[in-house]
Amino acid sequence: MSDLDLPVPSIPNAREAVRALRSSQIREVANAGFGVEDVLPFWFGESDRVTPAFIRDAASTALAAGATFYTHNLGIAPLRAALASYVGELHGATSPDHVAVTSAGVNALMLAAQLVVGAGDRVVAVTPLWPNLVEIPKILGAHVETVALGYGERGWQLDVEQLLAALTPGTRMLMINSPNNPTGWVMSRDDQRTVLDHCRRHGIWIVADEVYERLYYADVDAASTGAPARTAPSFLDLAGRDEPVICVNSFSKAWLMTGWRLGWIVAPTALMEDLAKLVEYNTSCAPSFVQQAGIAAVQQGERFTQELVLDLKASRDHLVRALSAVPGVDVKAPPGAMYLFFSMPGASHSLELCKALVREVGLGVAPGSAFGPQGEGFVRWCYACDTARLDAGVERLKLFLTRSGGV
Ligand SMILES: Cc1ncc(COP(=O)(O)O)c(C=O)c1O
Repeated sequence: MSDLDLPVPSIPNAREAVRALRSSQIREVANAGFGVEDVLPFWFGESDRVTPAFIRDAASTALAAGATFYTHNLGIAPLRAALASYVGELHGATSPDHVAVTSAGVNALMLAAQLVVGAGDRVVAVTPLWPNLVEIPKILGAHVETVALGYGERGWQLDVEQLLAALTPGTRMLMINSPNNPTGWVMSRDDQRTVLDHCRRHGIWIVADEVYERLYYADVDAASTGAPARTAPSFLDLAGRDEPVICVNSFSKAWLMTGWRLGWIVAPTALMEDLAKLVEYNTSCAPSFVQQAGIAAVQQGERFTQELVLDLKASRDHLVRALSAVPGVDVKAPPGAMYLFFSMPGASHSLELCKALVREVGLGVAPGSAFGPQGEGFVRWCYACDTARLDAGVERLKLFLTRSGGV
């Protein structure tokens, strides 16, 4: 028998559900800029500043003291206790039994989905949205329906009746991200109450991605204390801790810890034993010395976070002013997160536009279509950097538009 007579082996492929996942369009734009020197990158969701020194020092101290071992699946007890008191101060009494430490927000989202969603389940997500929330349930074989925010005079708004209509009986999970990436939309407390009541009635899980809760720029808080609000409205303000709400959070945004990969979940205690099993089989635990640094962040980081929010608000307002002066740009100041999601000439083909921007003038922004078809027509600009860099970016945008005849 010759080799030619042997059966042809099938080509080794990943599962169909995985092959069907969308790949990152932001990455595609970054690749288009490969070889372009001097790109100004505003495409990723992180600040250009390093993590504050008191947090880095806490990690160094923990490492020096030998914090190099596995920990409990749900996190070290002092961090769970510190998080419970932090969450309790912001959103009402919370016990450490309701808190699990995760390897950042994206892992928390995966764990939350793995807890409650299986093949064939119906999931609803409000879009435009950071793609991970839409793609994660698909990895598990779920079917994701989207409900689009609308854009008008008052910026991005939710039609809550439209969302309720999509949350049909039998829907397994609602994924909602507020403050929202990419739009900066913040869900109102009234809408949260309406949606929570509906989900209670129909037994639908709410997975609330609140990683940007501290990046909230409402001028005064609802209790009219006159003080700036410390956090955006949260489902945790309304729901009991043993209700079907899984709240996902992260150290990445409020303490500039993107590279550390540390986050947490607040969930009913009835889930914790199963959650611990899932952590075991995904990551086993978050790194030990990183968890120690997390304690420093939540216990000593309040002033830092409040100053960060003021800086971000100033950067947001600076960029809104600068972009508003560019003919053809329609931009509004959103109440949360750290992005402007705006329209401009050429944005109806946002992927092509963003590739051209990086290739021709070295301006790195993210295409709206990266956040689902509902994001087409917009581009996302992360403003978490100093104003001189924002100004340089706006100059490049103007140069591009002048060259292409848009101005
Ligand atoms: C909406 C949203 N959720 C979750 C995350 C996860 O962040 P991390 O995995 O760094 O905690 C991000 C990051 O950009 C995000 O934009």
